[in-house]
Amino acid sequence: MTQTVLITGASAGIGQQLALAFARRGYNLALAARRLESLVTLKEQLLLSHPQVRVEIAALDVNQLDSVAPVINGFAAAFGSLDIVVANAGVGDGGGLVGTGGFARDAAVIQTNVLGAMATIDAAVAIFRKQKQGHVVAISSVAASRGVPGAAAYCTSKAAIAMYADAVRAELHSKPIKVTTLFPGYIDTEMNNRMKRRPFLVTVENGAERIAKLIERGVQQSAVPGWPWGFVMWLLRKLPISIIAKQAPFAD
Ligand SMILES: NC(=O)c1ccc[n+]([C@@H]2O[C@H](COP(=O)([O-])OP(=O)(O)OC[C@H]3O[C@@H](n4cnc5c(N)ncnc54)[C@H](OP(=O)(O)O)[C@@H]3O)[C@@H](O)[C@H]2O)c1
Repeated sequence: MTQTVLITGASAGIGQQLALAFARRGYNLALAARRLESLVTLKEQLLLSHPQVRVEIAALDVNQLDSVAPVINGFAAAFGSLDIVVANAGVGDGGGLVGTGGFARDAAVIQTNVLGAMATIDAAVAIFRKQKQGHVVAISSVAASRGVPGAAAYCTSKAAIAMYADAVRAELHSKPIKVTTLFPGYIDTEMNNRMKRRPFLVTVENGAERIAKLIERGVQQSAVPGWPWGFVMWLLRKLPISIIAKQAPFAD
């Protein structure tokens, strides 16, 4: 039977390209984001290039925590079941330093990247527990591996969602429900295209294709691309604070 993948944050960047990557693989698609008009355009594009694929779209602001489960349940009802849910929606934090008047911005990062993603995963797992099968994917970041200057809230948010996914994986260990956590490095999207330095940058098409492959393989955790970012994550954890303090790799 045709599998269905739900992607939050599908209106742009990685989520949009991931929709195309899964359409190429013949999956049905449940796509959500705040910008409904972008989803309408994406749906038209998908149906043109992959007429055999079923595409449903819905407006969803994951910051509205009470609206997340109803939207995800609505997709499950429309398709009859869901196979994969990718908690991809996220925001960057613009590179501000702590204690310089940006706390509201930092709180908004936590709201979307942590609470919004947790609400998505919680709603997905509730469906998967009933279905007795499913696969939930958390999109974390290399930034989860070390707090770096200019990205305190973003690093915190990505470490938090990775830890949450870890716990969910342990909770579901005896059940046929998979949990994948992915840690992308720099993938060329609007989130980072104003940054001065983006080492080891890959195109969004390349990044999304790698992410789709890792999801299909059902890996528990992986950096994206695995090389060099798996090594960079290890290195970031080891480097002395004097070196970290001089870096601002995730800041504008
Ligand atoms: N690009 C990278 O290098 C990179 C690296 C590591 C991790 N990541 C992670 O990958 C994910 C996707 O990022 P991206 O680079 O593709 O960024 P992007 O191009 O800025 O796209 C972000 C997507 O998230 C959606 N979104 C943001 N806030 C939302 C909200 N409150 N409710 C629902 N959807 C929301 C946006 O849609 P609307 O505005 O239409 O809602 C958009 O579709 C994020 O979690 C990001 O942290 C990215």
